[in-house]
Amino acid sequence: MSNEPKLHILLSRKQIEATVKRLADEIRKDYHTKQPILICVLKGSFMFMADLIRQLDFPLELEFIRLSSYGRGRESSGEVKVVQGLHSPIKGRDVLVIEDIIDTGLTISFLLEYLRKKKPASLKLCALTDKPSRRQAPVNIDYLGFTVPNKFLVGYGLDWDEKFRYLPDICILEE
Ligand code: IMP
Ligand code: MG
Repeated sequence: MSNEPKLHILLSRKQIEATVKRLADEIRKDYHTKQPILICVLKGSFMFMADLIRQLDFPLELEFIRLSSYGRGRESSGEVKVVQGLHSPIKGRDVLVIEDIIDTGLTISFLLEYLRKKKPASLKLCALTDKPSRRQAPVNIDYLGFTVPNKFLVGYGLDWDEKFRYLPDICILEE
């Protein structure tokens, strides 16, 4: 018997591409005159952010933030820390947070609260995927790509223990 994890494609690169375009259209409509700051939540959102901003043909700024919560396992510990913070002030700015996946909601709730204290003019959330079945903290997602089942997902930036981020499709990692 092999210990190789089994992967099944849940969302193909084609589906992701179409959805990123749709999200970009929604975001452009709301932000094209606002010079927003997009905050990419590292590491999982890097690929999504890169594809998204290539579709956003208007002035915007980018920030990156890195949080720790998961450790190396598959479960959110609920204890979130800012490992790498923002470089520019966001006070009075229109801020859009870019996330790969909302699972328990604990990480993003912490982050939105952390950012709200810095007094942005507005604060919204764009998430590529949402796993609502595991929610522990309520989260309002302003721009959502896909609702996904309660499975562990890898690829398109998402990892399991730093593995599989490079896959171009979003795959279910079987037990
Ligand atoms: P939450 O605090 O449980 O909502 O977890 C959010 C973070 O955990 C996400 O930003 C992801 O980085 C990571 N995460 C949650 N579910 C998955 C998954 O299925 N695959 C890979 N990473 C995940
Ligand atoms: Mg993440």
